[in-house]
Amino acid sequence: MSAANNAPNILISAAGEDAAWKEAMVARLPGAKIVTGDENYDPETIDYALFWKQPQGLIKTLSNLKAIFSLGAGVDHVVSSPSLPADLPVIRLEDAGMADQMVQYHLYAALHFMRDFDIYSDQQAKADWTQHPVARISKCRIGVMGLGALGAAVATALSSLGFGVSGWSRSMKAIDGITTFAGKETLGEFLGQSDILICLLPRTSETENVLNSTTLSFLPKGAAIINAARGAMINEADLLRALDTGHLRGAFLDVAVTEPLPESHPFWDHPKIRITPHIAAETRIEESVEQIAENIDRINRGETPRGLVNRETGY
Ligand code: NDP
Ligand code: OXD
Repeated sequence: MSAANNAPNILISAAGEDAAWKEAMVARLPGAKIVTGDENYDPETIDYALFWKQPQGLIKTLSNLKAIFSLGAGVDHVVSSPSLPADLPVIRLEDAGMADQMVQYHLYAALHFMRDFDIYSDQQAKADWTQHPVARISKCRIGVMGLGALGAAVATALSSLGFGVSGWSRSMKAIDGITTFAGKETLGEFLGQSDILICLLPRTSETENVLNSTTLSFLPKGAAIINAARGAMINEADLLRALDTGHLRGAFLDVAVTEPLPESHPFWDHPKIRITPHIAAETRIEESVEQIAENIDRINRGETPRGLVNRETGY
């Protein structure tokens, strides 16, 4: 901690957004000494690091760090670092303005399938005026994998519009209007009743590849997938196979194993896939800076910060 009481030294490395984060942090914590990665600083004096996809090797230079704040909801970019000390607190953003955006994204994507916009888009290309019956919203069963800050908001919003919504998480949840499932042993049953599957899981060693040829086969024939979490949750080759055999109707993807998605990737021109470039929910700087500053205060008071990552589970 720097000389002035409660005036921490903070390093920001935010993948091209350093200046905006620094400006907001300086405004919120005027007493703190805040530097970005391209400025001169003594790494041994840094108390807190604010990271989004930090350069490799940076963590191990910061020998007196008290905590790392992820500038996103996901912490996979931090906890995957081999040089991260096992006892160093990692803190994630909780909602921070992202839940509303996730609701908007998933509402659009769910309606894309529920109201047959995928089919009408194909028909338009063939000047085909065929009309299809409009499904009842309550008959469209949506399954949300991950009922955390974002998944629970999406599940609740879709349920309030009339979709039949269920959710799956590690520990059992009780959410009004949502049928809930928990744990690996219920995954097959949960998937079996999901006409539209939404993935909002964090990337961990347990969730990587959770959607593969076996688990995709549990989905009802003609089901659709929406993934705005991380590409690594879905085995991409298995997804393509499930689309090509007709088991799956379509996929709406905001994330991929390799981002930016390489130009030659088969997802780009697959007729059953819609792609967006990891824009489902952007981190809102104002809300995030407030959360980070409040958490620094909590740490100073000896309290547990909110959004503290469990290093065992990885989220
Ligand atoms: P949370 O940590 O709040 O919630 C995670 C949820 O996943 C919890 O319900 C948790 O269960 C569940 N979960 C974790 N592991 C398992 C498992 N092995 N089996 C079953 N359920 C599991 O995360 P957020 O809602 O804040 O964010 C989710 C993810 O969304 C982020 O990690 C990030 O990757 C992604 N994201 C993508 C963005 C984009 O623009 N595309 C933007 C923001 C986030 P439990 O409740 O029992 O702990
Ligand atoms: C996040 C993201 O994790 O933007 O916040 O992907």
